[in-house]
Amino acid sequence: MKNVVAPEFFKDPRIEQAKKLLTEALTEHSAKITEVKPSPAENKVEYEKLMEDFAKMRGGSLFYDYIGSGIGNGALVELADGSVKYDFITGIGVHYFGHSHPGVVAAQVDGAITNTTMSGNLQQNVDSPRLFDLILDQANKYDAGFDHMFMTSSGVMAAENALKMVFQKRFPAHRVVAFEKCFMGRTLAVSQITDKAVYRKGLPKSLAVDYIPFYDAENHEKSIRMAVSHLEWYFNRYPGEYAAMCMELIQGEGGYWVGNEEYFKAICDTCKKHNVSVIVDEVQTFMRTEELFAFQYFKLDKHADMVLIGKNSQVCATLYREDHKPQPGLISQTFTSSGSAINAAYYIINEVVNGGYLGKDGKINKLHAKFASNLDGLHKKYPDKIKGPWGIGAMIGMTLFEGDTAKSKDFTFKLFDNGVLSFIAGANPTRVRFLIPAGAVTESDIDKVCAIIEETLNEI
Ligand SMILES: Cc1ncc(COP(=O)(O)O)c(C=O)c1O
Repeated sequence: MKNVVAPEFFKDPRIEQAKKLLTEALTEHSAKITEVKPSPAENKVEYEKLMEDFAKMRGGSLFYDYIGSGIGNGALVELADGSVKYDFITGIGVHYFGHSHPGVVAAQVDGAITNTTMSGNLQQNVDSPRLFDLILDQANKYDAGFDHMFMTSSGVMAAENALKMVFQKRFPAHRVVAFEKCFMGRTLAVSQITDKAVYRKGLPKSLAVDYIPFYDAENHEKSIRMAVSHLEWYFNRYPGEYAAMCMELIQGEGGYWVGNEEYFKAICDTCKKHNVSVIVDEVQTFMRTEELFAFQYFKLDKHADMVLIGKNSQVCATLYREDHKPQPGLISQTFTSSGSAINAAYYIINEVVNGGYLGKDGKINKLHAKFASNLDGLHKKYPDKIKGPWGIGAMIGMTLFEGDTAKSKDFTFKLFDNGVLSFIAGANPTRVRFLIPAGAVTESDIDKVCAIIEETLNEI
């Protein structure tokens, strides 16, 4: 940038000094948070009142009695009641670098001192093209050929935009296919795809959706045959009516089921034969395998027509090829993300790409191996109570009490009280799962969390 005021402002020594002071203060105060601790008894009444008032205002209580104080240290977070907990669910997969990470906070400050709070389609700052360039460049690491991306404010909006683009491209096709147990979000349209009846209870049917079974690792060949024959049956039953196949490559909310390259390729080839677009939903899987994108891990670079990202990426987006480009007017948004989120996104993605997280021997795989081996140790010690581990990379889960939903839920509440945040996923079996803050967590944190898991198992 030449002949503009901004660079001088951002490099002003007072700004540099202020950022240095902020980092110093943050590091000093954050360092006071060193271990899990219960809330002081004297805070109880005030905190309970805060929870109650909040529940009244939002029309229902929160899943956990969790309201953060606004500071943490790595994988540890302080709650407003003064307790400290290990955050191993990270806002269902958002706080990848944990809490009060100096680099993330500094990036947010860079965004916060720009001229506006939000960026939108009419007015964006230079930080947007910088981020787009990084994401598209990484998406095309193995020559996938994604030409464009559209930024948006939530994972489900990335899905909505993708659906609108495929419906427009494939008009008058109006049906979609998805995997059983999939989760894609909860807008009026997308809640028809998410395979959970209670999420669409009372809603008008806005989309025609059909399902095929997800990959079954225990029946590899059969699984592929079943998926392809289901698709062929649908595509021949309703010729020309399908616009898209929606694929989660590792099912997150559905219970941590990991797919397979050959299986996905067979599905993609069948879709291609019938002119059906493939939407890969990476809102939960982005940055969690040894490749930045799970489609790269499963070698689907040439197979996916669209890819959705969210959660870890801080901003959400739909990546697509030129042949899926929408006509003017189809997609837009007053605001797409905040300057702070855009800057944090750049920082986090850049760190993951260049900071030793990816690859077979990268940090993500090492953390998984450590956590998986600890959970396996617990399984061997308590074979009737815990089975697993399941998942891949920074997604890891276990089946407790044969996947009983009520007992698993009860476990998560007890685990929360004992100082660890987890969450349930799936049904039949229900699993207890973790979305670990890979950018903040240490092996010693994992040992401490597993000790708390064991203590909690013994309470039930
Ligand atoms: C695979 C997947 N897709 C889409 C979504 C929806 O994202 P959001 O809640 O940001 O709208 C989620 C959220 O959990 C998800 O896991």
